[in-house]
Amino acid sequence: MLLIPLLTAAAIAPGVNAGAMLRFSCSQLVVERLDPLVNPGMIPSPHLHQVVGGNAFNVSMDPNSLDLPSAATCTSCTPAEDFSNYWTATLFFRARNGTFHRVATKGNPLGFGAANGGQTVYYLGPSGNSKVTAFKPGFRMTVGDPTFRSDAQLKKYPMLTFTCLQTSTTRDGATTSFPKAPCKVGIMVSIRFPTCWDGKNLDSPDHQSHVAYPSSGSCPSTHPVTIPQVFYETVWDTTPFNDKSLWPTDGSQPFVWSFGDPTGYGIHGDYVFGWKGDALQRAMDSGSNCNSDLLGNSLNCPALKSQTIQQGNQCSKRQVVNENLDGWLTELPGGMKVA
Ligand SMILES: *[C@@H]1O[C@H](CO)[C@@H](O)[C@H](O)[C@H]1NC(C)=O
Ligand SMILES: *[C@@H]1O[C@H](CO)[C@@H](O)[C@H](O)[C@H]1NC(C)=O
Repeated sequence: MLLIPLLTAAAIAPGVNAGAMLRFSCSQLVVERLDPLVNPGMIPSPHLHQVVGGNAFNVSMDPNSLDLPSAATCTSCTPAEDFSNYWTATLFFRARNGTFHRVATKGNPLGFGAANGGQTVYYLGPSGNSKVTAFKPGFRMTVGDPTFRSDAQLKKYPMLTFTCLQTSTTRDGATTSFPKAPCKVGIMVSIRFPTCWDGKNLDSPDHQSHVAYPSSGSCPSTHPVTIPQVFYETVWDTTPFNDKSLWPTDGSQPFVWSFGDPTGYGIHGDYVFGWKGDALQRAMDSGSNCNSDLLGNSLNCPALKSQTIQQGNQCSKRQVVNENLDGWLTELPGGMKVA
């Protein structure tokens, strides 16, 4: 594996300092139109998602009646005590004739190529070994806004980006909109959540105002509690669509989010905490002794129980929404209009 010397923390996640850093593989659990956080009880939800994590993910996930670690029987992630759910919208390629083809996710080529799609998940502690407070049962949040269509709007969320992978280690040139040219290895979508919490609310009506970004390196007085930075990297396998003769004749790029966004600025992610007991807190408290799952199957964190990527690949969930998502579709699932 020639890439090993390149796998420093800096190559994997720019800006990461010493301090706890969990990095692990979560294989694809399900791709379907459900959103228990934003549209609980709705079958189907308006747009399509790719979901990873515990198999208790479902139409509704009411924190008052659902304890994820006891409801789930498996997880698609390598930390065996992590029954959280992590999800994002999905990507589609729009052909010249106006039909749409779903883009698959693939295991992160930096170490997690054995994963059956899904995404990489990080939990980053603050630099140094300052105190970080793990989430409480029932905690959930979203980041980003699917209605955004401009860079000016996206300034509200500073760390949601696209990286055009020329190689599996490309980490420069991140953009806030879809890449403008074909990407040899795929498009990596990076979604970083805020790191400050109000210390009281497990959720809020907009699923965002109970958390906040730090300013000048520290949490604001309204949101004084430092929480781990939850960070997703999803590698979209756009390589089957790299032939420029398939791209729009006006020079624009051909990818759209499943909610009809052709710009990329509507990038967003959803998180529902579901670690068992104090496992996440233990891992964060281990500091640099729990530095990450850099390569492949073994979680380099003695504080946690782990399983292999292959075991994660076997965790599945019965589909609730039955609709065709494969082949060339005349419209986006749910009839989402491109706009
Ligand atoms: C998921 O929700 C559906 C619809 O409410 C229900 O029929 C099904 O039993 C639930 N599945 C699990 C595993 O809880
Ligand atoms: C639309 O374009 C795609 C990609 O070029 C092609 O595979 C598909 O057969 C076309 N569908 C129709 C109905 O022309």
